[in-house]
Amino acid sequence: MERLQKVMAHAGIASRRKCEDIILEGRVKVNGQVVRELGIKVHASDRIEVDEVPIYKEEPRYLLLYKPKNYISAVADDKGRPVVTDLIQGIQERIYPIGRLDFDTTGLLLLTNDGDFANKMMHPKHQINKTYIAKLGGIPTPKELRMLEKGVIIDGQKTSKARARLISSNQDNRTAIAQLTIHEGWNHQVKKMFEAIGYPVFKLKRESFAFLGLDDLKPGMWRDLTAFEVDKLSKMADDSQ
Ligand code: URA
Repeated sequence: MERLQKVMAHAGIASRRKCEDIILEGRVKVNGQVVRELGIKVHASDRIEVDEVPIYKEEPRYLLLYKPKNYISAVADDKGRPVVTDLIQGIQERIYPIGRLDFDTTGLLLLTNDGDFANKMMHPKHQINKTYIAKLGGIPTPKELRMLEKGVIIDGQKTSKARARLISSNQDNRTAIAQLTIHEGWNHQVKKMFEAIGYPVFKLKRESFAFLGLDDLKPGMWRDLTAFEVDKLSKMADDSQ
C-alpha cells in the first residue's frame, strides 16, 4: 500500500506537493469515489483516476545525461528554448531532471520519474558530492582556494565545507582551470562561490555526481543507470542522514 499522492507522482501526474493540491481540489477518484483527504493509502489493484482519466503506474526509470550547453534543465520552457528532455527520445516514462544545471553549464545530469529518489539526491543533508570543473577569469591563489573550502557567504548564507584545487593556469591570458566539489545545490552556487573570491566563471562543467562520471558519453548522449548504481546512490543518501 502506498500513499495516493506518491502513486500519482510516480505516474508522472505532477510533483508530490502538486498532487496533494489536485486531491484537495476533488479531482481524484479511487475505485469510482472522489477522495479529498490527504494520506489515504492505495493498493496496486485500486483504480485511480485524475480528471476522469485513469492513471497507470510507471516503472521507475533513472538516466544519466551529458547535458550540452544551451539547454534548460526542465521538461518545458515558456520561452521555447531547448530543454534537456528533448535529448531523451524513445522512452515512455515522464522523466524530469534531478536538480538543475544552468543553461550554459554542461555535464552530468540525472533524470528520473521517481520523486522520492529525486528528493533524496537533492537534499543537502544527504551530502552527495558534486564535482565541477570551471574555467576562471584569473588565477586563484592557494589561500583563496582554502577560503572556498572553508565556506564563503553567498546570498547571505555560508556554504559548507568544500574541496577546491587548481588544475592548470595560463599566465599569458590570466585564466585558470579549477575543480570544486560541493554537496549543496543552490542556484548558481559554483559560479557565485568563485565570484565570492573574485573570479568570474567563463565555462562550467559538472564532471561527477557521487561516484558517477561521464565516462565515454559525449554531450547530448545518455544512458540508463544500472540497478546497482541506483541502489548505491540511495544507500549513500540513507547512510549520511
Ligand atoms: N553551480 C552553478 O553555478 N551552475 C550550475 O549549473 C551548477 C552549479
